[in-house]
Amino acid sequence: MARHLITSAIPYINGIKHLGNLVGSQLPADLFARYCRARGHEVMFICATDEHGTPAELAADKAGKPVADYCAEMHDVQAEIARGFRLSFDHFGRSSSAQNHALTQHFAKALAANGLIREVTEQQMYSKADGRFLPDRYIEGTCPNCGFESARGDQCDNCTKQLDPVDLINPHSVISGSTDLEMRETKHLFLRQSAMKDKLDAWIDSKTDWPVLTTSIAKKWLHDGDGLQDRGITRDLHWGVPAQFEGAPWEGMEGKVFYVWFDAPIEYIAATQEWADKTGGDWARWWRTDAGAEDVTYTQFMGKDNVPFHTLSFPATILGSNEPWKLVDYIKSFNYLNYDGGQFSTSRGRGVFMDQALEILPSDYWRWWLLSHAPESADSEFTWENFQASVNKDLADVLGNFVSRITKFTRSKFGEALPEGGAWGAQEEALIAELTTRIAEYERHMDDKEVRKAANELRAIWVAGNEYLQAAAPWSAFKTDPAQAAAQARLALNLIRVYAVLSAPFIPDASETMLAAMKTDDTSWPGDVRAALSFLPAGHAFDVPDNLFRKIADEEREDWQQRFAGTRG
Ligand code: MF3
Ligand code: ZN
Repeated sequence: MARHLITSAIPYINGIKHLGNLVGSQLPADLFARYCRARGHEVMFICATDEHGTPAELAADKAGKPVADYCAEMHDVQAEIARGFRLSFDHFGRSSSAQNHALTQHFAKALAANGLIREVTEQQMYSKADGRFLPDRYIEGTCPNCGFESARGDQCDNCTKQLDPVDLINPHSVISGSTDLEMRETKHLFLRQSAMKDKLDAWIDSKTDWPVLTTSIAKKWLHDGDGLQDRGITRDLHWGVPAQFEGAPWEGMEGKVFYVWFDAPIEYIAATQEWADKTGGDWARWWRTDAGAEDVTYTQFMGKDNVPFHTLSFPATILGSNEPWKLVDYIKSFNYLNYDGGQFSTSRGRGVFMDQALEILPSDYWRWWLLSHAPESADSEFTWENFQASVNKDLADVLGNFVSRITKFTRSKFGEALPEGGAWGAQEEALIAELTTRIAEYERHMDDKEVRKAANELRAIWVAGNEYLQAAAPWSAFKTDPAQAAAQARLALNLIRVYAVLSAPFIPDASETMLAAMKTDDTSWPGDVRAALSFLPAGHAFDVPDNLFRKIADEEREDWQQRFAGTRG
């Protein structure tokens, strides 16, 4: 049995994510995890909340709560919403866990032992009014690149340029607003990424099947300007993993913590340890190549802004440790999803957020639209018109209609069991041939993590069933040759089970409804279409399910458009 380790970039703890965040990592990772399980592979699917760093501290301050309490509460909120979207994590961890503290310090120690950490005394912004250093997002000012006035110390949200706090024009403290800032000396640990440049370069070059989006970003960081730079991996903050050697003090690092981007990817491993501690499972066979992880295929999912950390920094941590950790095999990255003519924005509350989406419609509606419009080759855009059109056409008119039509017809003419008699003819043979080709294509796209192409193929598979039903017209056949109508109905009802199995990675709830209607829990993959279409025998009982999907009316769409145009209330 093949084994798949699958991780989604871990969402920051500071608030509920929007649909653009969801489609960039957690949702496609879930699609792939569900598909791998459906194909009979063993899967370990890991996600977590990213709880350290300035975003967490600032959000907790704003909420007027101690940061540890804030993180615990928000973790539960995010976990609940993840369940709402049917994200099938084997474990949803927390980067603030004891396991991650220990493992992060372990990696730092191993890197230091291998000469890959150097201490740097540098000048950092210090606020006299606040009595503290102002790392990353604790400082704001005007972007030297685009003139945006609320650029943060680490990055400009307007033009996305990576910044250093000293680059900002008119810098001020985010805590007090004070502009009484000065440069003060402070000591930090730096990861010597530059020393690993050639190794990383060769490793990226060996990944010829990776998406261009992934490799081009990695290459840019490796070669642009002066090439790959060493990175500060500590910060003058209180909340985080203390900068120590596995619990023993690190001279000069008292009161400092590791940088959030150092400990966050390590949480992929630590979350698997959290899972093992909870369930009694074995984490090492997923992560240690000396404990069986050699046979694991490891796939990561993330938005493009996360690519440098996953192609360079985290591999530098893994490789630099000189320990037998599992390295990623495939990095699937995504462009951005825009919202109705602009950007989704967490800070401005623009767009649809995950909790709001679930208040309006069940998760399958969102899963289908988002995955079938995933921003793979370019950015894509959510518009309410497009959402309404996709739902009404693909889900209601094509799939939903197929299921309701054939179950209602069969019940009215034959009762609530698969009817007996008749034989397949040319139309059925043609359908089998088409489905065989299309399912093979669907598998290929899913194996390749080509999300949109897989969605298109699945839609074509639904359409094929509808067109078959339209052409075979068992309701007409019934008048002259009831046995033929029975054979057609039997095939079409079996096709509902096949649709349930194939569609489950995209729309798991509808799939369950379809299986329940067919009174089966057999989810075996339709590798042999002919056999799958006669799997449920004559006499097997079924139910007519409630409508799988409802249509979105124009007034509703307009209403939602209005409601989400402004800022989040
Ligand atoms: N929290 C980061 C973000 O939302 C992603 C962290 S991914 C990990 O952009 F690798 F660090 F875990
Ligand atoms: Zn800018």
